[in-house]
Amino acid sequence: MRSETRAVSRARSTRRRRYAFPVTDATPPLHPDLVALGPLLGAWRGNGSGSYPTVAPFGYTEHLYFGHDGRPFLTYDQRTRSLDDDRPLHAETGYLRPAGPGRAELVVAQPTGVVEVDDGDVQMSDGVLRLVLRSRVVGLTTSATEITAVERTVLLDGDVLHTTLAMAAVGQPLTHHLASELRRTG
Ligand code: HEM
Repeated sequence: MRSETRAVSRARSTRRRRYAFPVTDATPPLHPDLVALGPLLGAWRGNGSGSYPTVAPFGYTEHLYFGHDGRPFLTYDQRTRSLDDDRPLHAETGYLRPAGPGRAELVVAQPTGVVEVDDGDVQMSDGVLRLVLRSRVVGLTTSATEITAVERTVLLDGDVLHTTLAMAAVGQPLTHHLASELRRTG
């Protein structure tokens, strides 16, 4: 009876541990392959503006989070809300992977039925970290809006993170869609 109780209690605490976030109590050391991307780690918040030839311009607040668990990739989560009425806008989640010297890959899933597989260059010059990522593949669910290419830039200058996104979609060539400026919050 006593051992059953112990087993149940162990199962409960295992369940708690398995589903808790972060997965481990102690943050493991950063994987050496992440040295170039490491400055992105943490939480970021700020505002952005968006436009596209087919939609009315809009403003948004953005939260980004880059994490790691000791393996050679960063976890990536983004949430945005409308500056007009605080309704949720775009969100996405994925992984940023170092891919050899000066290269990185991004896989990202979006609730709009879009998945992107991007790759590109990572450069550090004059203390500014710059990523330029271009889609190799844009996967669309049956009901998703047509997007054929995406280009993203991420520029980290001190504690300010600048992002831009251009896309080819709904019959338009590669055209600016988003720009944001975020500051570190954690
Ligand atoms: C900060 C992130 C983003 C925000 C705040 C945002 C916001 C918006 C808004 C407000 C619209 C117009 C209204 C609507 O159709 O919902 C829109 C349209 C659109 N967005 Fe974004 N978006 C974001 C990221 C993205 C990304 C990552 C993609 C694709 C890779 C994307 C693709 C599109 C497309 C295809 C349209 C529709 C254009 C049309 O139907 O004419 N957006 N976005």
